[in-house]
Amino acid sequence: MKTIIKNIKWLLGCHDKAPARLCGKDMAVTPTLTDAFVAIGDGVIESFGPMSSCPAAKGDYVIDATDRFVMPAFCDSHTHIIYAGSREQEYEDRIAGMSYVQIAERGGGILNSADLLHATPERTLYRSAMGRVRQMMRGGTGAIEIKSGYGLTLEDELKMLRVATAIRDDAVISVKRTFLGAHAFPRAYRDNRDGYVRLITREMIPAVASEKLADYIDVFCDEGFFTPDQTRRILECGLEYGLRPKIHANELALSGGIQTGVECGALSVDHLEHVGPAEIEALRDSDTMATLLPGAAFFLGMNYAPARQMIDGGLSVALASDYNPGSSPSGSMQFVLSLASIKMRMTPVEAFNAATVNGAYAMGLNDSHGTITPGKRANIIITKPMPSLAYMSYHYTTDMIERVIFN
Ligand code: NIG
Ligand code: FE
Repeated sequence: MKTIIKNIKWLLGCHDKAPARLCGKDMAVTPTLTDAFVAIGDGVIESFGPMSSCPAAKGDYVIDATDRFVMPAFCDSHTHIIYAGSREQEYEDRIAGMSYVQIAERGGGILNSADLLHATPERTLYRSAMGRVRQMMRGGTGAIEIKSGYGLTLEDELKMLRVATAIRDDAVISVKRTFLGAHAFPRAYRDNRDGYVRLITREMIPAVASEKLADYIDVFCDEGFFTPDQTRRILECGLEYGLRPKIHANELALSGGIQTGVECGALSVDHLEHVGPAEIEALRDSDTMATLLPGAAFFLGMNYAPARQMIDGGLSVALASDYNPGSSPSGSMQFVLSLASIKMRMTPVEAFNAATVNGAYAMGLNDSHGTITPGKRANIIITKPMPSLAYMSYHYTTDMIERVIFN
């Protein structure tokens, strides 16, 4: 039995042959069809086209999308959805005037989440993270990356990655797992930072690799966190074990993180609130995706990444939620699209491409996700009736997603 979505008002992101990613000016357009259909069989997209050639036969399951937009599901390539408890006390502290860095320096922030995670059993972490996955799926997300990084000991990092692996095995949507032991320096290593780097390279990475618990490796390369030199040591070790980098860079300062990531062949460098001409130059002509996380800039009251300069400079930009308890407690990709357009001046089509085809690239899923293309997984959003794509991010607190299809 096939599933046929028919009478689609606008079908977006329908590429006969999908590009791996879109760069610069190419981000401003997406192939569209009006009065269209999509046919799905065995969990994959079989075909799409104008209604005049719709293949519907008796026995097919038919969805009528009159007045609706149909598009590929979002690919959220950067999240920290495995965590215990919540951090609204720090949110109140920031309202009272403290900064994210000050909170981290007094032992809060990521270390606060690490304490909570240490005290929480694996089963509880699994249940709460799965709840977030379901919530994100309802919001139109069809693939996610999940990071560790609230363990910060060998045992607790492995615990997080086991939870991520169980989610990958059980979830309906695709999941990629990233080892982020280098998220912060644990209290025991406050005055012995290189000692923690050695723990990561000598014990954590070999254990993660031998248990096959991760697809990628990440480091928080930024002022006050891991230096470019420490980052390089960790990433080079990860590469020896087959873990490609996807790193946090330039959230807090011009930290050298972007250059370090590009030099180490990172699949993506993420955050990028602090970017100048040298950083744009380093990214141009590289295979590294520039992934922007405007939810974190919004929640922490930071400057936004200069998306306009990056796209105008020819770069390939992706958008992700950064869903985490400290800097972005939301997995709403529709809100990310709104922030991208309202705060970073990305056009609605650029934001759509950044959250779909380029997001898929940023987690190595571009062969199977991110566009409406025959042979790709049928992970599809059907919107509520709306007049234009721009309406979706313009109407920024109204859920415009009526229905989602996975496989
Ligand atoms: O992407 N910048 C580092 N890591 C997370 C925040 C983690 C936290 O505060 O718990 C981020 O913003
Ligand atoms: Fe993050």
